[in-house]
Amino acid sequence: MPRSSVTVPFALALALVAGLTACGGDGVHGKPGAAGVGDPYFPKMGNGGYDVTHYGLTLSYDPRDKRLTGTAEITARALEDLSAFRLDLLGLDVSDVTVEGRGARWNRAGQELTVRPHDDLDKGETFSTRVRYSGIPRTITDADSSKEGWLRTADGALALGEPTGSMAWFPGDHHPSDKASYDVRITVPKGLQAVSNGELTSESTTGGRTTYAWHTAEPMASYVATLAIGRYDVTRSTAKNGLPVYTAVDPTQKQASGKVLGKIPEIMDWAEYNFGPYPFSSTGAIVDRADDAGYALETQTRPVFPGAPDTRTLVHELAHQWFGDSVTPRSWRDMWLNEGFATYAEWLWQEDHDGDSAEEIFNALYEGDYYEPVDSSEIWAFPPADPPGAAQISDPPVYYRGAMVLHKIRQLVGDDTFYDIVQGWAATRRHANADTAGFTAYVEKAAPDKDFSGIWKNWLYGKGKPSHP
Ligand code: TRP
Ligand code: ZN
Repeated sequence: MPRSSVTVPFALALALVAGLTACGGDGVHGKPGAAGVGDPYFPKMGNGGYDVTHYGLTLSYDPRDKRLTGTAEITARALEDLSAFRLDLLGLDVSDVTVEGRGARWNRAGQELTVRPHDDLDKGETFSTRVRYSGIPRTITDADSSKEGWLRTADGALALGEPTGSMAWFPGDHHPSDKASYDVRITVPKGLQAVSNGELTSESTTGGRTTYAWHTAEPMASYVATLAIGRYDVTRSTAKNGLPVYTAVDPTQKQASGKVLGKIPEIMDWAEYNFGPYPFSSTGAIVDRADDAGYALETQTRPVFPGAPDTRTLVHELAHQWFGDSVTPRSWRDMWLNEGFATYAEWLWQEDHDGDSAEEIFNALYEGDYYEPVDSSEIWAFPPADPPGAAQISDPPVYYRGAMVLHKIRQLVGDDTFYDIVQGWAATRRHANADTAGFTAYVEKAAPDKDFSGIWKNWLYGKGKPSHP
């Protein structure tokens, strides 16, 4: 719908004065989009009023001056009439913002970059916005005191985004509920490599700099986007079904990683047999020397390890490709749908490879004699479906008790129905979002003759240690 441009400057001024409240008036019908999507743990993450379909990031980074220079071209659909919208971006200097090719007004407050397009956006309209920015990106310390965002390594940098880190390297709708496709073009000094998600579509060197172009066609949540810059030994191979495998390994980790990364095709095969078709177009791993991180992350198609992984951790991060990356939590409260499944995948792998059965692991955890150093009081500290705060979303109940919920379901329905549920869940929510209520409803529908109420009440939502059996 065309609008009279005459009233726009006045309306914009009014919106500024009114602190971005709605302004009526001829031709201006939009309101500013909200500065968050109502996540119970991270209220400022994500933004209201639009849905991103594509990120086109053109970046350059030089480890010598530590500066990142970027242009983010974001394609999105307006979900309401908008006079302004927000992007999440922490740190970095913005130099210029356009919307639909026209200069836009913008301002910044904390992590919110507010953009006021020249013309209001109509509900349903697809629009593009371009943000130019640069600076030294920040490392963010999480609520649980782990490090994320932009981490400098000995020979480059590593971007890790769970749960809030991606706003340190590009502006966006940084909440798992808004997934999009990506193109990441990254230019680095010649001699360095740059690895991201998806497939490498081009690599070219001119004037002492190399540009790598990475493409992710399938929807990706920004917290599993990654960028690794440095020196890597790269191997390319194919898994059994022809799937490209791309691994990038820090030379110091090569020796220790070789054997376990060689298992990727076998693990992928096992996972497809158990969870259903792999949801993405390539796979692999990034092994860096990231002492600051100290944790692995299920970055899409190409999980990141802070050093050579063991098989269990590799299985965990590859299982996340189905549970977390393809079936993505609707909010950070639904985190157990990621970690419970990925942890249970470790148990299933052990069960299928001459280790303890999932039943034995469940019992050991229940009795408090599990071989890993998890304090049993920690496992029962809170229900997996309801972490008490942002600092607890990756605590033991989310992982172990989350996996125990899945095992309780398996005990009740038997193996055949259990694997049907696991595969059906991955299939119905493929490339989408899911929450706990959606999961329990799905399970109940899959086994209508069973009563799950005790499992939900005691294991999923209940406080304290449930009685068992
Ligand atoms: N998701 C990671 C895994 O288990 C662990 C992790 C890394 C994490 N950073 C986090 C969990 C931040 C929650 C929040 O493979
Ligand atoms: Zn995990």
